Amino acid sequence: MTNPVNPTTTEAWKKLEQIAPAFSPDLRKWFEDDPQRAEKLTFDAADLRVDLSKNLLTDEVLQALTELADQVGLRERMEAMFGGEHINITEDRAVLHTALRLPKDAELEVDGQNVVEDVHGELEKIYAFANKVRSGEWVGITGKPIETVVNIGIGGSDLGPVMAYEALKPYAKDGLTARYISNIDPTDAGEKTKDLDPETTLVIVASKTFTTLETLTNARVVREWLLNGLEKAGALEGKSREEAVRKHFVAVSTALEKVEAFGIDPNNAFGFWDWVGGRYSVDSAVGTSLAVVLGPEAFDDFLSGFHAMDEHFKTQPWEANVPALMGLLNVWYTNFLDAHTHAVLPYSQYLHRFPAYLQQLTMESNGKTVTWDGQSVDYHTGEVFWGEPGTNGQHAFYQLIHQGTRLIPADFIAFANPAWPIQDGDADMHELFLGNFFAQTKALAFGKTADEVRAEGTAEAIVPARVFKGNKPTTSIMAPALTPSVLGQLIALYEHITFVQGIVWGIDSFDQWGVELGKVLAIELTPAVAGDREVLDKQDPSTQSLISYYLEKRDK
Ligand code: F6P
Repeated sequence: MTNPVNPTTTEAWKKLEQIAPAFSPDLRKWFEDDPQRAEKLTFDAADLRVDLSKNLLTDEVLQALTELADQVGLRERMEAMFGGEHINITEDRAVLHTALRLPKDAELEVDGQNVVEDVHGELEKIYAFANKVRSGEWVGITGKPIETVVNIGIGGSDLGPVMAYEALKPYAKDGLTARYISNIDPTDAGEKTKDLDPETTLVIVASKTFTTLETLTNARVVREWLLNGLEKAGALEGKSREEAVRKHFVAVSTALEKVEAFGIDPNNAFGFWDWVGGRYSVDSAVGTSLAVVLGPEAFDDFLSGFHAMDEHFKTQPWEANVPALMGLLNVWYTNFLDAHTHAVLPYSQYLHRFPAYLQQLTMESNGKTVTWDGQSVDYHTGEVFWGEPGTNGQHAFYQLIHQGTRLIPADFIAFANPAWPIQDGDADMHELFLGNFFAQTKALAFGKTADEVRAEGTAEAIVPARVFKGNKPTTSIMAPALTPSVLGQLIALYEHITFVQGIVWGIDSFDQWGVELGKVLAIELTPAVAGDREVLDKQDPSTQSLISYYLEKRDK
């Protein structure tokens, strides 16, 4: 890929720099002056209805932002990504998560390989396996069908699958559940296996590299737990431990030789490719736990949702292109209006892991200080993504969003139809829930003036405390229901938002060198934690003192 354009040198950036200092948002007035504002700034992207009208956006800003997209070459970079060019410069790789959801009859050849054929070949393998588990044809070592799938992975090999499993629970097959073990904190494996029956448990070890310390440690620990459990129950009589591992462990990885070395039958290993980044991999074999528990049909719908959003992103002009507009707005807030964080607030309990998933997607992608040609940036990149499902967040941190001193753009997500249509007497609970969703974005946008507070008879001394300044930017994202397809659309939306921001900032959104140093140091200093004095003495004074405290307090 050609070198990035320094965004600060573009005419559009300069225009935004001129607008920003005197920018004085007034959403009340903007809506009064332009009765079409909501209509003009509301878009459909696949099944998503996205209302951008409560953002701090004027025609002038919008114009400059779309010019910025052109001036940094967003269209060409997007074509380079979809076409399989090696846009992950520092790892010299194509970035082709979009190929994972191409329909079977599509064509794409990359580095001499028919990518669509490869993707669908692997999908067929995963679906055949999923169907065997679901039908009871696949049984454990004692002949019992599988009841629990345990996915062991971390980062991209965990966050996407666990988020999607939680989101799509209503689609799970009766009698089949999934659990996800990720943390190297022994608590995670301990708690997640303590009430499981090894005879009906199937473990999926998911690791792109199959070298990740946490995942391999957990995989060994759970293998021991499983074999010991089977042995204790007398289930291994006349059978070998190796055979038991083959019946109860499968793998997902790009490193299939390492899978075999672990004892997993390579026929039960599902592959993907180096052009799928970990945090972009939930729609690859990394989603095998989903294909098993939710079923191949639901997984196919999930993929078609991603693809629908890809098509929207690829084909729409910037003015109607939702991922592009949302990404550009994030640049506006980050680089010109001094926003540092971005809240994601799903009004859906099923999406309770969505903010955590987005943290890896957005922050591992765009938390960089050098451009893809190695220049230091002199502008901010990345945003801190965070959030909790509504209405829980309302009773916790919304105070700061409403009345704090910081600007926090927030994405609100809601669905017209609940999975649980429960009544509270005459009241429909989902209506009460969505009443809150609509009320919050309204309050954030339009606030409450001092006169309005006074009109309620409030004592003058406390009027200031009860004023809401408004002009707090929000985007509302709605869909008919949280289906597998809609979830795929939502994920792809944020993947492309992240891409847009990365291109504007000129950074490689697909590498993650920033996680390496800590991994190396952990391996280097762990012997000190186990009591090696020589290694301990080599540490800095603070680290020495912390490890010494640990050694003193640990009962062993
Ligand atoms: O350490 C970060 C990371 O490399 C992520 O990017 C990745 O999703 C995660 O570790 C897990 O990696 P793997 O799938 O190779 O075990």
